[in-house]
Amino acid sequence: MPSRKILIAPSILASDFSRLGAEVERMTAAGGDWIHCDVMDGHFVDNISFGPAFVEAASRHTALPIDVHLMITRPDRFFPRFAKFARSISVHVEADHDVARTLAAIRAAGCLAGLALSPPTAIARIEPFLGLFDILLVMTVNPGFGGQAFLPETMEKVRRGAKWREERGLDYHIEVDGGIDTATARISREAGADVMVAGTSVFKAPDAAAEIASLR
Ligand code: DX5
Ligand code: ZN
Repeated sequence: MPSRKILIAPSILASDFSRLGAEVERMTAAGGDWIHCDVMDGHFVDNISFGPAFVEAASRHTALPIDVHLMITRPDRFFPRFAKFARSISVHVEADHDVARTLAAIRAAGCLAGLALSPPTAIARIEPFLGLFDILLVMTVNPGFGGQAFLPETMEKVRRGAKWREERGLDYHIEVDGGIDTATARISREAGADVMVAGTSVFKAPDAAAEIASLR
């Protein structure tokens, strides 16, 4: 399998919300590939972030694909409200829904379907859904907050996901999310990841373009 292009997805959870448009434009100009949007409901995770109107506003400031990460208990109920402006929508395998049905519905809505799993969740949990998703989103921190430390034990899941992709002739992105900086991006890339979500490292960097280039 040819090596995949490494994509960088700045996570707007780390942005200055009072200047959302300018921040999205800044990450677009700095060379970001996707704009990662973390939606949290205060139930699936112990935090509330933003909803469809906020993500739609962000989408008006970039031509980059909008990569929505639903950290919510009922992604089946709410994903349609993002489908008009999202390129990809990832849902958690741990959430309270019929996973296969939600993934199929996201694809039917014209979006790439992503399946996310949190650090405590075994990779075996997503095996039944191989072939039904376009992105495997391996959380490298516990979901809910930016600025946490990378959990290296999650790399085993990235390696297994890359092996299954190879063995079964599948073609999905492997996206890592949380605590990604130059060092952990390299570890993730070596394990088989091709999409790097980065919040703190790029939004707090003095030079976002240089940081994005170093993540690649
Ligand atoms: C955490 C989110 C991550 C987070 C990444 O629940 O899913 O996308 O915003 O932020 P950093 O890069 O600061 O860990
Ligand atoms: Zn995320």
